[in-house]
Amino acid sequence: MAEVVIVGTPAEAGGIAAEFIARLVARKPDAVLGLATGSTPLPVWTALAERAKDPARPLDLERVRGFALDEYLGLPAGHSQSYRAVIDREVVEPLGLDPALVHVPGDDGGPVEGAGERYEAAIAAAGGVDLQVLGIGRTGHIGFNEPGSSLASRTRVKTLTEQTRADNARFFPTPGEVPTHCLTQGLGTILDARHLVLLAFGEAKAPAIAGAVEGPVSASLPGSAIQLHPQVTVIVDEAAASGLAYRDYYRFAWDNRLAFER
Ligand code: GLP
Repeated sequence: MAEVVIVGTPAEAGGIAAEFIARLVARKPDAVLGLATGSTPLPVWTALAERAKDPARPLDLERVRGFALDEYLGLPAGHSQSYRAVIDREVVEPLGLDPALVHVPGDDGGPVEGAGERYEAAIAAAGGVDLQVLGIGRTGHIGFNEPGSSLASRTRVKTLTEQTRADNARFFPTPGEVPTHCLTQGLGTILDARHLVLLAFGEAKAPAIAGAVEGPVSASLPGSAIQLHPQVTVIVDEAAASGLAYRDYYRFAWDNRLAFER
């Protein structure tokens, strides 16, 4: 079962996830982070940037490497909503990462055909992802693995659902400008990361979180693939946790974790 942490605010969630990352980087200065876009991970990057500036607890992120989960297809190079641009703006710059060490699917200059295999090879050459930050879409997708994605899938081209395109339309001048296709790490790729940290906030995410954490493992709710992973931390606010049957137990387990788990 995933470790589920129910917090009061997104900022609190960001602080917990940032501390996981800080501890990892202290142990492994060239750690490989799996980077997610969307609104949900923003408090993580904010907390980590603040933590990196804390003179009392030095944290050097200069050698940290990164692999983004996904990227739209069909946007002009340099488009402000391409995930390359989003990752640069929201993660690389505030954290002071080296942009040359941060990769997004399809940004190697090669053709779309074979981009998935090349991305997989790059992750493998880096030694795999140490900690993968994840959000979850209302369709239950992680990365852009929409319902029906194989639990064993690898990085590949996917077609977005109308729901996901509508949800992401807020980032584009008109809904029609949301791309229809993307490149995304597969569920099998994500499950290869050594630690998964999935965050979700707000009532709209409650059904997806309930299905991902407690529902049957099914390609119909791709986030449920996390149940196959041995080290998962799910950090949610009260609203996103509201559909969880065992939320009292999760609270009890977190409040009573043993000294070595803190
Ligand atoms: C997009 C991304 C996902 C993200 C999801 C939820 O579809 N590809 O990685 O988890 O949006 O976004 P938000 O966190 O903004 O709700």
